[in-house]
Amino acid sequence: MSEQSSLQRVTRAVVPAAGLGTRLRPLTYAFPKELLPVGRKPVLGYVMEELAGAGITDVLFIVSDAKPQIRGYFGEHFQPEASLSELNCSYIVQEEQKGLGHAIALARHWCGNEAFAVAFGDCIVDTTRETTPLQRMVQAHVYGKSSATTLVETVPLERVSRYGIVAPEPGANLESGDAIKLADIVEKPSPEAAPSRMAVAARWVLNASIFEYLNRGALDERGEINLTDAVRMQMRDGGLAWAAPLLAGEARRDIGNFGSFFSAFIRAAVSDPEYGDLAASAAREALSSKA
Ligand code: UTP
Repeated sequence: MSEQSSLQRVTRAVVPAAGLGTRLRPLTYAFPKELLPVGRKPVLGYVMEELAGAGITDVLFIVSDAKPQIRGYFGEHFQPEASLSELNCSYIVQEEQKGLGHAIALARHWCGNEAFAVAFGDCIVDTTRETTPLQRMVQAHVYGKSSATTLVETVPLERVSRYGIVAPEPGANLESGDAIKLADIVEKPSPEAAPSRMAVAARWVLNASIFEYLNRGALDERGEINLTDAVRMQMRDGGLAWAAPLLAGEARRDIGNFGSFFSAFIRAAVSDPEYGDLAASAAREALSSKA
């Protein structure tokens, strides 16, 4: 199968954007975090360009009634930029915020039987490479006969307890940058118990069979339906799971807390072609007055 035909296998993406954004309060009382500016564009503007660049044509936003701005901004169509084709946009309201897995489960009828991508609405995935992380995930998903394929980012050992951490199959080559077949995913392990330092990173490609596992409705300790729990259940039933690592020149920019939001904004501001120098000198000035 050629690279092009494999990329055409995933044309739908679900973008969960209905969360409460509690870590960004009081800002999120006024504004959805998914539309916060990072430089000149809202977070979701980057996400949509990433999806269009990976061959996605149809996007389903999971929204809440508290965030009418998302539908207002994107409408029924979104034109990312001249070289990328337009995206068709649909919306489903998540009435109760019962977690990411619950949000994705709402997409069941929209997805039909097709494999689909999931892109968290509060996270930008940056790349300077020709093939994007999502394109590599789709390739791994198709060639690896995967049921669930995730993007992974290597994190410092002291931070593994904040994430889902993947366990590669024994013998997997972790140095090559190629996609890795998984033996398990462990949610928020202690550093001692972590099977690796590779954390699940806000992007998935999933087969429609995941809905069966999400709809079993098992709730985690926060009372939420957890996507990684559903993937684990599917793996126990024989489903294959793969992970594509972020490579040099790529980064995940999470906007979910003030530290990561400020960092993402500062990076975007200082690399702005017109105002980058101004932003950098403002940052230097602020630093020297702090010292
Ligand atoms: P997060 O867990 O980072 O978002 O979910 P949150 O729940 O809004 O964050 P905090 O912990 O309260 O600060 C990742 C993505 O999934 C969406 C969020 O909007 C975010 O874009 N999400 C999360 C939903 O759509 N529904 C949910 O029930 C939870």
